Amino acid sequence: MLKTHVQELAIFGAPPLFDSPRPIGQLDAPDFSDYVNTLKEAYDRRQLTDGGFIVRKLENKFAAVHGTKHCIAVANAGLGITMLIQLFANGRKGEVIMPAFSYRGLPHFAQWAGQLPRFCDVDRQTHGLDPIAVESAINVRTTSILGVCNFNDPGDIEGLTRIAKRHDLPIFLDSVYAVGSTYKGRLLGPFTNAEVYSLHATKLLNGFEGGYITTNEDDLAEKLRWQRNFALPALQPKVPGTRNVIGLNAKLNEMHAAMAILSLDRMGSIISRNCARLEGYKKGLEPVDGVTLLPYASGEQVNYQMAVIEIGREWPLTRDQTVHILRTEGAGISAYYSPPLHRSEHCPAGIQVPTLPVAEELGQKFVQLPVGELTTLEDIERICQLLATVSGNGPAVRKRLRELGF
Ligand SMILES: Cc1ncc(COP(=O)(O)O)c(C=O)c1O
Repeated sequence: MLKTHVQELAIFGAPPLFDSPRPIGQLDAPDFSDYVNTLKEAYDRRQLTDGGFIVRKLENKFAAVHGTKHCIAVANAGLGITMLIQLFANGRKGEVIMPAFSYRGLPHFAQWAGQLPRFCDVDRQTHGLDPIAVESAINVRTTSILGVCNFNDPGDIEGLTRIAKRHDLPIFLDSVYAVGSTYKGRLLGPFTNAEVYSLHATKLLNGFEGGYITTNEDDLAEKLRWQRNFALPALQPKVPGTRNVIGLNAKLNEMHAAMAILSLDRMGSIISRNCARLEGYKKGLEPVDGVTLLPYASGEQVNYQMAVIEIGREWPLTRDQTVHILRTEGAGISAYYSPPLHRSEHCPAGIQVPTLPVAEELGQKFVQLPVGELTTLEDIERICQLLATVSGNGPAVRKRLRELGF
């Protein structure tokens, strides 16, 4: 059913578009028997974790895909990021430079690793760290620079690495949304000291939970392998800089690795289905005034994992009203990176935050639309039609929302 009249909107009492939520996650699902068969050998051998053969196979495969010397599998990307922040701080209590417009978990990862976040403004186009803002934020307390490659664009990695080098600082990337994406024509993975990826079920590659780190640095790889396994004294690697490493349990187990390895084999087909969904949104939103589908970096390979719209001036509703309307229709969506991190509950009390005008502005205007394997092309047509109905009946929708107290 297409909703073409205001009275058909669920927020005004009509039945919702979807009887089960259409998510914003990928939720790739290989054939269940393939999964069980992949896991079976590990299960039969009772080699279920602690660097089992599926994990080792996964690490070899991912290193080859990313073109890096090493891949270190971890229990999730959050722990991978925390480990790197801790390693790079090398026993100091300091600050990690990170974008203010980004994933909400980042400030807490810094705090687990004994650091404070130092929020920087972002580039309007790529939404990644603005190198000029980074350079002016560097000070004696800076222990590392954490860049984020966003779904739409990897950002100015060259500019950031140049600054890191000039100031002799470690730099690493949260590339969670950029699996399968390229920078300057080459797959992300080898561009900084290390890059971190997630294997969470909602991400491009699904290991239920999981993550991995890519790096070309032998010593760093050894330290990470040791750190993820409690930094056990008996296993201490003979490389410099182990004195201040704090260990934890961040091992990936065989059950998750088996799922992720199947997902990796399916990456090409996952991306082409994402591309078809993106095309569906592009076509469906073209005639809708006031919203723009965010474009992906041109000239690069991308994974089309997310569909994000920008709410423009001509759009009749606020961003939050729009989110509310879509959620009531059964779209399991959210505002994209809102609030910015320096305004979030994860921002430590009392830290100095400079003015961050771009992060502030971006934090108010994006909505993530349903994507992934549970969203059909027909669903997308219905969502676009719904947005067209809102756009074409702006004053009436606004008036009724006001009457309802929204
Ligand atoms: C950009 C970004 N970084 C890191 C993470 C953390 O990933 P994980 O769930 O594997 O810990 C997420 C999770 O959504 C994310 O979106």
